[in-house]
Amino acid sequence: MKVVALMGSPRKGGNTDLLTDEFFAGAQSEGAECEKIRLDDLNIRPVAALGDEWKMRVDLRADDDARWVLDRVAEADIVVFASPVYWQGVTAQMKCLVDRFSAYYMADWLREGMRGSGFFVITAYGDPAEDESHWITEPVKVWARGFKAKYLGQVAAAIAPWGAVAQMADVLEQARQAGAEAVRAMRE
Ligand SMILES: Cc1cc2nc3c(=O)[nH]c(=O)nc-3n(C[C@H](O)[C@H](O)[C@H](O)COP(=O)(O)O)c2cc1C
Repeated sequence: MKVVALMGSPRKGGNTDLLTDEFFAGAQSEGAECEKIRLDDLNIRPVAALGDEWKMRVDLRADDDARWVLDRVAEADIVVFASPVYWQGVTAQMKCLVDRFSAYYMADWLREGMRGSGFFVITAYGDPAEDESHWITEPVKVWARGFKAKYLGQVAAAIAPWGAVAQMADVLEQARQAGAEAVRAMRE
């Protein structure tokens, strides 16, 4: 069982990063192999102009790191979309990667790779008054439907300062359990 986490936050040791480590610990306790891909460390440009004919599309920027990441994603059994809420959406690092799906959307390697895999969301947001996690969970649910993947769930922390989720024992435990449960759910 292979878990690939797309880390959309540029903050190493930030809240989504720490929650992803906990998710991994849970997944590893069930025997899964885990890989974190830090999108901010890679060269992933915004998608270039695409034609309207899906099957004829060409990724004019295929020489950057996006295609390598998409290959890793297609090979994974569980894909974790780990992104804080930035301006009511995923971070630009993650949006750039996800937009690149459109260049390969009808490609067999991507569609076959994604079909039946599990999608999970890890997020953090700063607003203390309102649950902002839906800005991340709702799009990922739609992406899961589009790829015929399973939406497995989410862990969200309402916390802004860098790494402060380390003090939230309940959310850390939730992430750890979610990692183990996600692997078990994919085995069923
Ligand atoms: C550019 C930027 C935009 C943000 N936009 C929002 C937002 O729209 N809503 C919100 O609740 N928090 C917002 N935040 C706060 C972050 O979501 C919060 O600090 C989160 O814990 C960061 O996660 P990280 O430590 O994993 O990077 C924003 C932070 C930044 C830097």
